[in-house]
Amino acid sequence: MSRKVDLYDSAYGNYESATYRQVRIETYGEDFGQTSWVTTEESNAIPQLLGLRSDSFVLEVGCGSGGYALHLGEKVGCRLIGLDINKPGVRNANQLALARGLASQVRFEQCDASKNLPFDDNTFDAVFSNDVLCHLPGRPAVLVEMFRVLNPGGRMLFSDALVIGGMVTHEEIATRSSIGFYVYSPPGENERLMERAKFRHIRVKDTTESAARIAKQWYHAREKRKEELVAAEGNTNFEGLQRFLSCVHVLTSEKRLLRYLYVASKEPRDHLTP
Ligand SMILES: C[S@@+](CC[C@H](N)C(=O)[O-])C[C@H]1O[C@@H](n2cnc3c(N)ncnc32)[C@H](O)[C@@H]1O
Repeated sequence: MSRKVDLYDSAYGNYESATYRQVRIETYGEDFGQTSWVTTEESNAIPQLLGLRSDSFVLEVGCGSGGYALHLGEKVGCRLIGLDINKPGVRNANQLALARGLASQVRFEQCDASKNLPFDDNTFDAVFSNDVLCHLPGRPAVLVEMFRVLNPGGRMLFSDALVIGGMVTHEEIATRSSIGFYVYSPPGENERLMERAKFRHIRVKDTTESAARIAKQWYHAREKRKEELVAAEGNTNFEGLQRFLSCVHVLTSEKRLLRYLYVASKEPRDHLTP
């Protein structure tokens, strides 16, 4: 059985370290503090997919260290709230918001997003979540909550890198799950749950190949900086994360685990059935 490996505490706690920054730049091209499989191309497409405007109010579920929400705040001019369960991530995000003069426009809260979201119905114009829902128990209720806090006419986007595409061994599942709690889903289940939560106009894109590429780039960027990373996170954790990244690469490049990007809408008020 694979031992528990830490990804998020070390990534967010070492956010400002030049080594971790270089790993992110080499992995993704542009540094938004990512710890996911989102390519820079996908990051750049999200504002348009969500129909963001400068007067939008946006919720990011699982914002990590906050870099992408702050980028949206700067680029689009919208207001955002980011939620994450990870304390170093939220602390880093709020510090970055202050340092960039965005604290009145973009704020971050520590929150377990598998529980009811701490917002009124119909609060946000857009809700998104990059590679986070796989970490949350109770996806049907999570999607209902995302629907509830979304304004009629608003859009929702999330990605799921744990859709089963083929045969996977128990050892692969253990290594793939070594960084925390995970839910694996059968193909079509996310679409079915979104329908059930009353989302409409569901669009799905297969992004498995780019996830395989990110995993490979991330693995090699870390391998090149092994000495510094071992000093920061310890040898056992370094090796554990390398096994995790290598496992993601193998499973996604062989299409045994698939990553999908989902975009959907809440019908405008006059289309909603009572
Ligand atoms: C794969 S990372 C993605 C982070 C960010 N969205 C990105 O693209 O880099 C998953 C994130 O989900 C957060 N997370 C895990 N369980 C959570 C929970 N129950 N509630 C809120 N956030 C959670 C982790 O702390 C982590 O920041």
